[in-house]
Amino acid sequence: MKNDLHKILLSSQKIDRRVKELAVEIDRYYKDREILLVTLLDGAIVFAADLIRNLTIPLRLDCIRVSSYGNSTDPETAPRILSSLKSEVLQKHVLLVDDILDTGNTMKSVYEEVSAKDPASVQTCVFLDKPERRQNNFKADWSGFSIPDEFVVGYGLDYAGRYRQLPFVATLKSSILEDK
Ligand code: IMP
Ligand code: MG
Repeated sequence: MKNDLHKILLSSQKIDRRVKELAVEIDRYYKDREILLVTLLDGAIVFAADLIRNLTIPLRLDCIRVSSYGNSTDPETAPRILSSLKSEVLQKHVLLVDDILDTGNTMKSVYEEVSAKDPASVQTCVFLDKPERRQNNFKADWSGFSIPDEFVVGYGLDYAGRYRQLPFVATLKSSILEDK
């Protein structure tokens, strides 16, 4: 797996530090209000797992699954929600957590779906942001790192389902991206 990598963009130490900072900001924002933290599967599981262990506000967890790229690196323009929430959203403070804000289409559709259920509030937190790729005006309330328009893997992010377990974020060799 290591042979497939081109360059490490974010080390695990750098990620740890930033996740802790985000947790402090989120704690401060919600004070002691309870939130429903909704993880977008599968990509955000690693980030969400680290984030929640640094949060001190009361919280409950839920997950939502949205259709993704398949094996390509090109996003579908209209993401489909494949499995929705088990929790009641009405009057809850919902925090949506995703791995990366790319075109913004995934977050926008989940945001709209959740907002339609009359929550007390909906905020969004993403591990990575690729502002150059945005196809709408969606902005996350909290974002870990802004990165250039490059396809990255690790810390939950995959290519064709692989590399999610890497504790850092890296780019892939072009031979790997071309192969599939
Ligand atoms: P969006 O709908 O275009 O914002 O895409 C969001 C989803 O695309 C993320 O949840 C990721 O699953 C996937 N994605 C976007 N960019 C990358 C990347 O560089 N590496 C891996 N997955 C990505
Ligand atoms: Mg994803």
